[in-house]
Amino acid sequence: MIAILLWSSVLSFLVIHLICLHLRLDFYQLATKSMTINSTNHIPVLFDAVLEQAQVCEGELWVDCTLGRGGHTEALLLKGAQVIAFDRDQQAIDESSLRLKSFIESGQLTIVHSNFSELKSALEEMGIQFVHGILADLGVSSPQLDEAERGFSFMTSGPIDMRMDRSRGLSALEWIKAHSAQELCHILRVYGEEARAKYLAKVIKDWVDEDLKDEASVNLSSRKPKDTLGLARLIENATPMKLRRKLNKHPATRVFQALRIAVNDELGALEQLLEDAPKRLEVHGKLLLISFHSLEDRMVKKRFKALSETPPPPRRGLPPPPSDPIEFEVALRKGVVADEQEKDLNPRSRSARLRILTRIRKNDGLGKMKA
Ligand SMILES: C[S@@+](CC[C@H](N)C(=O)[O-])C[C@H]1O[C@@H](n2cnc3c(N)ncnc32)[C@H](O)[C@@H]1O
Repeated sequence: MIAILLWSSVLSFLVIHLICLHLRLDFYQLATKSMTINSTNHIPVLFDAVLEQAQVCEGELWVDCTLGRGGHTEALLLKGAQVIAFDRDQQAIDESSLRLKSFIESGQLTIVHSNFSELKSALEEMGIQFVHGILADLGVSSPQLDEAERGFSFMTSGPIDMRMDRSRGLSALEWIKAHSAQELCHILRVYGEEARAKYLAKVIKDWVDEDLKDEASVNLSSRKPKDTLGLARLIENATPMKLRRKLNKHPATRVFQALRIAVNDELGALEQLLEDAPKRLEVHGKLLLISFHSLEDRMVKKRFKALSETPPPPRRGLPPPPSDPIEFEVALRKGVVADEQEKDLNPRSRSARLRILTRIRKNDGLGKMKA
């Protein structure tokens, strides 16, 4: 009986192993993948690609700039890395701290409530100069989008807030009140790539300023408070039916994206991260960035290119001026996007692109290099 049991366990082990080999998964991946998806009910985007590219080794020091629900962080921890995780959203921190409590208690995970634009000073305060890897999964998380209270969604009724960090800054409604129609038009055009920016900015500004007029005339009207659904309907009504049919998304999508980016200064934070993060990498260290729209991806691509290529000579035909050897290398020219299976499983992954920068040497600033 014992022999039969033993034989069947060995046999099932071999079968699972063969299946894993066939699917090019290792046992670890299989275990963490199912565990991460099940325990948080949240699927980290490009999870396998991140692990494959990160090549995390036990004992390495990693920074996850965007903790969120901790899916990627947990994977790094399970690979044996020491992790410092940032998030500007206290709610994300509270929930992830609870879930990853054992790693915090053992000292393997440190969570910092801060904007990742503060990476440089935060690491300096901890006495850390270099790390083995830095990961950022940009933008908002699914829980932030799904919770009406946060004001990111045009599908549910909530306050027009959209702040990732609710302890500071202006809500989206306050932002609109505090800025002119021209400024609103500018962000709709630049951050939302909205073709009807000028018209929509005027419509939105007039709608929001109704309240200000009421306050000024002490007319405490019974006007309904402004909410996300009201804003979405306003934009819908201001979009001709012919155009609405042509769009393959809700007519308010671009406006909400633009407001969110402005309110959270998302591009400003990314610019700072792109400036500081490469300098914090050890030799062979990696910077992995997942972006979700072309504005972010363009910035990442441009910065990675600038860091990994010799600048062209100022005038054609002239030899390039002497410069330090290139310190960085781009791992895959086009980055990594989700495959069809992941896109079906997790619609958010459809627009995601992972780009990877590797530090190949550290220059000492004197024209010599340290391999
Ligand atoms: C896409 S989610 C990350 C999901 C995470 N990788 C996971 O597996 O659960 C992005 C998270 O980053 C945070 N975030 C976005 N921009 C940030 C910034 N500039 N500084 C710090 N946190 C930021 C958001 O609050 C959100 O929780």
